[in-house]
Amino acid sequence: MKFFIDTANLEDIIKANKIGVLSGVTTNPSLVAKEGIKFEDRIEEICQSVPEVESVSAEVSPDAVTAEEMIAEAEELLKINGGDEKITIKLPMTIEGLAACRYLSKKGVKTNVTLIFTVNQALLAARAGATYVSPFLGRLDDISEDGVQLVTKIAELFRIQQLDSQIIAASVRHPDHVTRVAMAGAHIATIPYAVIEQLSKHPLTDQGIEKFAADWEKAKI
Ligand code: E4P
Repeated sequence: MKFFIDTANLEDIIKANKIGVLSGVTTNPSLVAKEGIKFEDRIEEICQSVPEVESVSAEVSPDAVTAEEMIAEAEELLKINGGDEKITIKLPMTIEGLAACRYLSKKGVKTNVTLIFTVNQALLAARAGATYVSPFLGRLDDISEDGVQLVTKIAELFRIQQLDSQIIAASVRHPDHVTRVAMAGAHIATIPYAVIEQLSKHPLTDQGIEKFAADWEKAKI
């Protein structure tokens, strides 16, 4: 399973990239709004900061409701950073979003169908040619449903039906989500920086480092 970072915060993206495990970035209107910067400018900055990643998701705005409106916005987004091939058009899981996905994927544009909460939605998105489908775990858990189980089922369905779309486990809230979606067969997890950092931590690791440091001082005598 690959790691994407789920943020529009440039500092966090740069920190995550420094670790050397980052394969992509996902943003959404809420994440961009937190940054107080023009959306297109931030996408360009992201593309320039992490040139080697495979994908930077840029979501069409909520103002684009019809497929035609989404495609028109996508065409502008695809010009960012001189037409950067990493730019992945993120589309909502609606009938119009699916139509836009089919159109864009036929043109060879990378797409990410977002706000997926059922297996059938994932199946539709995959059949519409989505490069990535994004089931939202945390938001399902929030309403007492099982987000990881959804990812498990989508992964199984994609295997049985031999569908090529990659599953991005999204709305990831804690390290246990990461372990469980990796075991469930998600291709990618998109994670906030705080959770990426948590993945590297264990109290026994910290204690071990402290003990080695203390013993090393003694060994210097
Ligand atoms: C994914 O692409 C979304 O940006 C994200 O994972 C949503 O997560 P949230 O439920 O924490 O807002």
